[in-house]
Amino acid sequence: MPGGVSGSELSDRADGVDTRLPVPGLPGVRFRQNKLEAGTVTLDLLSASAADVLTKSPPNAIPYWSVAWPAGIALGRVLAERVKPETTVLELGAGVGVSGLCAAAAGARVTLSDNEPDALRLIGMNARRNRLAVQGVTADWRWWPLSSELRFDLIIGSDITYEPAAFDALLSVLRLSAPPPTEVWLTDPGRLMTTAFQQRAIQAGWRWDFEELSPVGRQSVFLYRLRLH
Ligand SMILES: C[S@@+](CC[C@H](N)C(=O)[O-])C[C@H]1O[C@@H](n2cnc3c(N)ncnc32)[C@H](O)[C@@H]1O
Repeated sequence: MPGGVSGSELSDRADGVDTRLPVPGLPGVRFRQNKLEAGTVTLDLLSASAADVLTKSPPNAIPYWSVAWPAGIALGRVLAERVKPETTVLELGAGVGVSGLCAAAAGARVTLSDNEPDALRLIGMNARRNRLAVQGVTADWRWWPLSSELRFDLIIGSDITYEPAAFDALLSVLRLSAPPPTEVWLTDPGRLMTTAFQQRAIQAGWRWDFEELSPVGRQSVFLYRLRLH
């Protein structure tokens, strides 16, 4: 798996039920085993609790990648229902891999990416736990390594439009990797920052549709579908 799933402190245990894996950089915080039901898909995922990560991280080094956020779970459920087998999917900012792995479980051919090498290691473990074959790549939107020759039917990302300093890089990645007819499906919990991203995307030529998804717990989640004019 490109991006690396080996040679790390996150090494998988042979029994496959390691719920005591440390979250890198957060002493005392461990990944937990979670069951995710998404329509016909059930996944067994390692992820950290949001409460632990948000309260125990240094303010300038929060490992957002280590949590399965509600927007990712909601996107996973949508993909499990709507994606057709053999659809080629690229996930941006995949974190623990919840959305992309749901798509893979529904039969899609999925490449998951994130700029955090530890995220790719955990994605590799989560894929193995669920016997899913996926590609993984460590990829930062600011120095995007994927060739524009690579084509995907669908690009996905959950809760990745919260940092205005990243908007230009993210839009460049979408322009490069999502030429028509590729669609981009993004989800978020209705962040104000996403409105700013939406304005920039529309100025850059993207058509922007949205729908409200079923909440995850009590958290509202929105799906944004983008396509270049
Ligand atoms: C809030 S988390 C969402 C994780 C996952 N999509 C989910 O919903 O559970 C944001 C993710 O975007 C990734 N990310 C942030 N900046 C990035 C960049 N410049 N390039 C690639 N990934 C980035 C983070 O590492 C993190 O995994």
